[in-house]
Amino acid sequence: MSILVTGGLGYIGSHTIIELINQNEEVVCIDNLSNSKITMLDQIEKITGKRITFYQVDCLDKDALENVFKKHDDIDTIIHFAGSKAVGESVVKPLLYYENNLMSTINLLNLMIKYHVNNFVFSSSATVYGNPERVPLFETDKIGGTTNPYGTTKLIIEGILQDVYKVHKELNIAILRYFNPIGAHESGLIGEAPNGIPNNLMPYITQVAIGIREKLSVFGDDYPTPDGTGVRDYIHVVDLAKGHVAAISKLRTNSGLVIYNLGTGKGTSVLELVHAFEEANGVKIPYVIAPRRAGDIAECYANCDKAKKELNWVATHSIVDACRDSWRFQQYFTKMESEK
Ligand code: NAD
Ligand code: UD1
Repeated sequence: MSILVTGGLGYIGSHTIIELINQNEEVVCIDNLSNSKITMLDQIEKITGKRITFYQVDCLDKDALENVFKKHDDIDTIIHFAGSKAVGESVVKPLLYYENNLMSTINLLNLMIKYHVNNFVFSSSATVYGNPERVPLFETDKIGGTTNPYGTTKLIIEGILQDVYKVHKELNIAILRYFNPIGAHESGLIGEAPNGIPNNLMPYITQVAIGIREKLSVFGDDYPTPDGTGVRDYIHVVDLAKGHVAAISKLRTNSGLVIYNLGTGKGTSVLELVHAFEEANGVKIPYVIAPRRAGDIAECYANCDKAKKELNWVATHSIVDACRDSWRFQQYFTKMESEK
């Protein structure tokens, strides 16, 4: 049996492939390299000692995608990470987001049905909960009210998966709603390296720490939270990766369609994360309080009891671990870039 990982050279995909290899799973990876580099294959090999099977394939290219299914008739599971994920860009280029995220998923589902591949893991997001009425968020809470095309693609795909499952009961589908992934592999060899100015908090902090950016803007200190800054559920990317391994075990028991929050169950404010980073790494992060960012919500964190009970999975890394690992990767990445 092997596992097809789409978008496997990206941030979450690469960490997940390492955990799959650690479990002796056979991995076939495809990626169109639109937001990743081919050198990730070398990094994965350095960490695991294994060269994975890789094809540069775009999930929108039906023929190329079908060739992968034909060539690897032992694929039993697909983990679908491939997609576009920048919230701001999705507002400016909605059609690109709807086309890439929806069509790549539809193409995969059609091929799964044609080639009798039954297990599918989908990368969803806490963004599907919109502006939550209460926290923590349970999987049974209302979804909808997304504020940008990126978030809406996740919502629509969840709906597509529900509809397809109604008529294809042979499928086992895990919808995984990620909260805020941060951190990096403890080797420091892989991590999150966004192009341009980071939108997300942790990459911005590490770029301030290394001196690429002068200071962090804290978007709002007047939210109804303990210190006034936004609260999120930051999950270490290696814990998230292990959540996928656990979800696959569940699918292989013929689970049907299942939905899990993958988070820590704990909210952390912007300033708490900044201070944790400073303490973990002995580096000062200069910041200013700036106006709220449009579309932001005050608080978002998960209840993760369902994943604990049904997947036997819990996040074990702390915020301090994530701060240390993100910083280790940022230093490595900056050194590599400067030697180019
Ligand atoms: P990423 O951009 O690092 O990885 C996505 C990978 O998919 C990239 O390597 C990119 O080159 C590839 N890709 C994009 N479109 C493709 C296509 N049409 N065909 C083949 N490859 C394609 O993103 P990530 O942070 O690793 O996120 C992975 C998934 O998790 C995405 O679906 C994302 O929306 C979802 N997600 C991410 C977060 C987060 O904060 N990082 C949170 C919730 C959900
Ligand atoms: C964002 C996306 C969400 C996506 C998630 C994970 C928006 C509106 N939502 O959520 O769809 O699933 O990333 O990738 O963009 N912050 C600062 N200064 C910064 C950056 C962030 O103060 O320079 C604050 C934010 O206001 C927020 C917290 O840090 O309170 C986390 O922000 P971010 O990392 O962008 O994640 P989300 O807003 O949760």
